[in-house]
Amino acid sequence: MKILVVGNGAREDALSWRLARSARCSAVCATPGNAGTARRGENWGISATDGKAIAARAVADRIDLAVLGPETSVAAGVGDRLREAGVAVFGPGRSAGRLESSKIFAKRFMERHDVPTARARIVHSLSGAERALEDWRGACVVKADGLAGGKGVVVTPDAASARAVVRSWFGASGVPGGGNDLLLEEKLEGRELSVFALCDGKRFVPVAAACDYKRAGDGDTGPNTGGMGAYSPPNAFPDGFLEIVRERILEPVARGLVVENERYVGVLYCGLMWTANGPSVIEFNVRFGDPETQVLMPRVRGDFALLLESVSRGALDASAATFDGDPCVGVVLATTDYPRSSTPLSGLPADVELGEGRAAFWGVSNLREGRVDASGGRVLTVTALGSDIASAREGAYAAVTELAGRFGDGLPLTFRSDIAAGAHN
Ligand code: AMP
Ligand code: GLY
Repeated sequence: MKILVVGNGAREDALSWRLARSARCSAVCATPGNAGTARRGENWGISATDGKAIAARAVADRIDLAVLGPETSVAAGVGDRLREAGVAVFGPGRSAGRLESSKIFAKRFMERHDVPTARARIVHSLSGAERALEDWRGACVVKADGLAGGKGVVVTPDAASARAVVRSWFGASGVPGGGNDLLLEEKLEGRELSVFALCDGKRFVPVAAACDYKRAGDGDTGPNTGGMGAYSPPNAFPDGFLEIVRERILEPVARGLVVENERYVGVLYCGLMWTANGPSVIEFNVRFGDPETQVLMPRVRGDFALLLESVSRGALDASAATFDGDPCVGVVLATTDYPRSSTPLSGLPADVELGEGRAAFWGVSNLREGRVDASGGRVLTVTALGSDIASAREGAYAAVTELAGRFGDGLPLTFRSDIAAGAHN
């Protein structure tokens, strides 16, 4: 099987790394690709949102399976263009992709189909938002409709703070829809958990779970980021929690998709809050998570390419591969100015091999004359497996120290020192 991975972050590097280990995979290329994927196969360099060009090249190169990494590819209809061209795709089309690309679509969908989620008011103007906040009690989560790269959500303590956010967003160019289309949501209390479910267009199977760290600083301080680390499996959740998620969340979602004539093929990432009443949906994503993927891929046992291919064919074979290898912890090495900006770093050593049970995945980067130029802010995700979370965590931090030594002093790189620290075994 010749496989194409669409995207250029550490998530896509991890997907390509795992796919390359599959007996069924004869070649793995990427587009646009990064410094990690370049070491395994050809990087096409075509933008991850240019569906027409990707589909044309996929046909010419006889790609057997395309795997969509980022939400921007889904929202740009890259899956639709590939399917029209006859290429098998792991990843939904643009229409079902609205579960992520429009928070208002997702909230209404959940309300229509009784999927547990935070209660919300949907507004389409500044005055509508201000009216809704007049009698608001307690904390309020303000969310902009549309893809905002993690920057379209602010958790506020009360209506006055929510009003300040709404006003500052109104007419702002960086906010999707100019801040007109908003969700004002009750704040859920509990523990956060990411559950990944595969769907072949007919049924959903929850296959893996992880916890990620979104804030920049230790102790969950500082601004929100794309993610500074993750670990899997999560713990301190009730026994059989995946089964609970299947019954309460995935089954109503599957029924709703049928009723609404939407076909979902790929992975559904359920961002959940485990409340006193069980799981409640914070958000859906229509692709694998970053950095969760970097800790899930080392845990895969079996043939990952076969698993994704079975999903793309509409015949999910959950026995092809499982995600139950040893626990894994991943730590993101980021530039010190991330997420405010992302200083490009050039001429980094390309060799980030760490030996058995450890891996390092490149973020947005290029391989040039044997050295790496990194420009994404999140430079590497460094992972380690261990017999339990504590030893995986030790291994991951030892690997960070080893790589930092290889990179030399003076680089403006930083990382959180508390990834998986609070995790019980
Ligand atoms: P999102 O971009 O929707 O994942 O939101 C970013 C983060 O905001 C989530 O990971 C949560 O930590 C937090 N968040 C979003 N919605 C809620 C909510 N209704 N209650 C509590 N926290 C929330
Ligand atoms: N880890 C968060 C995300 O991928 O959206």
